[in-house]
Amino acid sequence: MDYFSYKKGKLFAEGVDVERIAAEVGTPVYIYSKATFKEHLKRIGKAYGEIDTTICYSVKACGNINILRFMAEAGSGFDIVSGGELYRVLQAGGDPSKIVYAGVGKTNKEIAEGLDADIAYFNIESEAELENLIRLAEQQGKQTRAALRVNPDVDPKTHTYITTGMRETKFGVDIERAQKVFAGYAGNSSVSLSAVHVHIGSGGKTIEPYCEALEKTLSLIDKLRSQGHTIEAIDLGGGYGADYESDTVPSAADYAGGIVPLLRDKGLKLILEPGRSIAANAGILLTKVLYLKTGGGKKFVLVDAGMNDLIRPPLYDAFHFIWPAQVEEKLVPHRRDRDLQLAGTEVVDVVGPICESADFFAKDRALPPVKRGDLLSIFTAGAYGFSMSSNYNARGRAAEVLVDDSKFAVIRKRESYEDMTALER
Ligand code: LLP
Repeated sequence: MDYFSYKKGKLFAEGVDVERIAAEVGTPVYIYSKATFKEHLKRIGKAYGEIDTTICYSVKACGNINILRFMAEAGSGFDIVSGGELYRVLQAGGDPSKIVYAGVGKTNKEIAEGLDADIAYFNIESEAELENLIRLAEQQGKQTRAALRVNPDVDPKTHTYITTGMRETKFGVDIERAQKVFAGYAGNSSVSLSAVHVHIGSGGKTIEPYCEALEKTLSLIDKLRSQGHTIEAIDLGGGYGADYESDTVPSAADYAGGIVPLLRDKGLKLILEPGRSIAANAGILLTKVLYLKTGGGKKFVLVDAGMNDLIRPPLYDAFHFIWPAQVEEKLVPHRRDRDLQLAGTEVVDVVGPICESADFFAKDRALPPVKRGDLLSIFTAGAYGFSMSSNYNARGRAAEVLVDDSKFAVIRKRESYEDMTALER
């Protein structure tokens, strides 16, 4: 679900013609819809309404301070993985009591910053990290709370690079070892180990793995409680799907339909860490056609965005629907699917200007005919688009624009050559 739609053949972000944004801000540009962000947050909140739930939006998906600010105002908490993300959330006015801090390699500096901010939970990924947290909390005379991240050995059926809850991954502790960790550390007076965290991966398209991981975690919590430990919360992580293609993933209500019944009457607070399912559909990457060329029996559409702007297609073999921002009425896409067949399209590769064959957005894709200067929209780019972008090939990162109804604002300037060299000595 999103608020990007065609009116009379022109693509609008909410009430703004994206061509206007390109004319004023240039391309490539990330365009976000505030209403889409908020609608997804609202739907998740509603789906889990009958349980005491804190939604901690996963900052890594799309972490512009302006976005974090309106998410905080809308009541969201935050899932962070670094000192930089903590800084962003605090700058945005996020409530520290709704911050959870994951990450397998938190440094002493980062832990100290989390202690200073008095965040809700450190999500602990190893005994060594827990010992370090205890040591630092004692040193600083601070008290805090921790959730033990367990590895339930469940396959979320997504790309291996974003599978995190299988036995051989680096995340969390094996679920079998969790009882030992609680026995060893739960009585500590500086760090109250009182919650369990589980995140099996990102981008799965079915509910079952989440239910399986939850069932395994609940059975662990039963055992821990019977051993006398107080467990107040379960953090179910993120990973819920987003519609890269129309209607292909369960909705928030569908996920909740599987999850909520398992949690009823458990006396557990629920924490969720959705990133993609909130941000992905809320952003597009708008790019301009630079050149058309043919070669090796192929037709290439060369655009001004590159893999430095959006690395997901080559890195994860990810599908992003691409369509011109202006088309004849009969070519307005009624669905966003990889095999959308409309009369009058032609099969092309959409590629960027970077010196690598990995620099592509789509291969053998049916697109309406385009010419130099036309704008293409790469959809569902709000999550892990800008946040994974880089300066590769000394290309300044794209501008970010936030649309709110019929207004838009640049929320991050396009990087200049000077910006890119400013820190070099
Ligand atoms: N919680 C934890 C502990 C995580 O590691 C992640 C994502 C999330 C929550 C949020 O997951 P989400 O709801 O966004 O799926 N760059 C990849 C995705 C990497 C996800 C890393 N961890 C991509 O572009 O698909």
